[in-house]
Amino acid sequence: MLTLGIESSCDDAAVAVIETSAPGIATVRSSTVANQDDIHRAYGGIVPELASRNHVVTIVPVIERALSDARCTLGDIDGIAVTSGPGLVGSLLVGLMFAKGLAQATGIAMVGVNHIEGHLLAPLLENRIAMPYLALVVSGGHTALFAVEDFGRYRRIGRTRDDAAGEAFDKVAKLMGLGYPGGRAIDELSRRGNRKQVRIPRAHVKGAPMDFSFSGVKTSVATLLATAGGQAERQEDLAASFQEAVVDMLVKPTIAAARELGADTIALTGGVAANSRLRERLAQAAAADGRRLVAPALKYCTDNAAMIALAGSYRLLRGERDSLDIDAEANLSL
Ligand code: KG4
Ligand code: ZN
Repeated sequence: MLTLGIESSCDDAAVAVIETSAPGIATVRSSTVANQDDIHRAYGGIVPELASRNHVVTIVPVIERALSDARCTLGDIDGIAVTSGPGLVGSLLVGLMFAKGLAQATGIAMVGVNHIEGHLLAPLLENRIAMPYLALVVSGGHTALFAVEDFGRYRRIGRTRDDAAGEAFDKVAKLMGLGYPGGRAIDELSRRGNRKQVRIPRAHVKGAPMDFSFSGVKTSVATLLATAGGQAERQEDLAASFQEAVVDMLVKPTIAAARELGADTIALTGGVAANSRLRERLAQAAAADGRRLVAPALKYCTDNAAMIALAGSYRLLRGERDSLDIDAEANLSL
């Protein structure tokens, strides 16, 4: 079965074609992303109005490219999976309305997909993983731990109480003048820094060992920069020390959750899964605890449509389809 995936929940417009033989078992035929970083960089963050306007411009070329990369036409597609939330409502609407139009015009079955479900299942694009597994979703918009018990059965067992980890990376990068989005710049700078040089307090959520909190580390860096006029610490050391604090605060609750769940596999997903130190430390911590870390290729960690197609395809395989009445929901919960 060929599924066309469409994802436009935030600033990237992504389209993919996957071939599914059984739930969670798929080959990616194509996966295309139209990235908008160049448009939002000047503003130091995503401007929702600009994001949705650009989706309108790029959606058709991205769909055409995904189909041609997959060497197929719309006539070969058996089902459409489209992100219906959570995300920026204007952005979501572009992909969703386009998918509805396609479904209406062609009669192809369409299902709406929760973006987070896509991230949770993304590790299956390249790996066979027995369920239940633990997934750490860590991106610019989300930081949470989920038990993936079965297709369609997910239990959130930890969450951030304030900022997402990626948001902390981006805000600190902005304070340090490293541009937007800044997670990768901090990662690269950190390789040359001493991660023990600057003292950054780690936050733990009292009574909730599987929850996260990142607003404090961001404030620590802001205070350091303000009081020292930004001159006291080497940029490299500040980046490395901040990154180590965030990694510590991600690893500890994740291992606690894996123990609680008895999960053999921890799957790491979301844009911050690109962080080299997080991958290294989480792999070490998982191995020391007798568990396996699975981290998808970078292109499947960040927002992409292959994961949306995968999350829709198990329902399409069962013969399910959503009505054309489904709506974009900015706060859609899983
Ligand atoms: O999943 P994603 O592409 O978009 C959503 O937020 O949904 O994630 C983007 C986030 C940004 O906050 C970006 O700074 C962060 O992922 N990021 C990183 C790295 N690469 C991307 N954070 C830390 N280290 C990286 N190497
Ligand atoms: Zn995402």
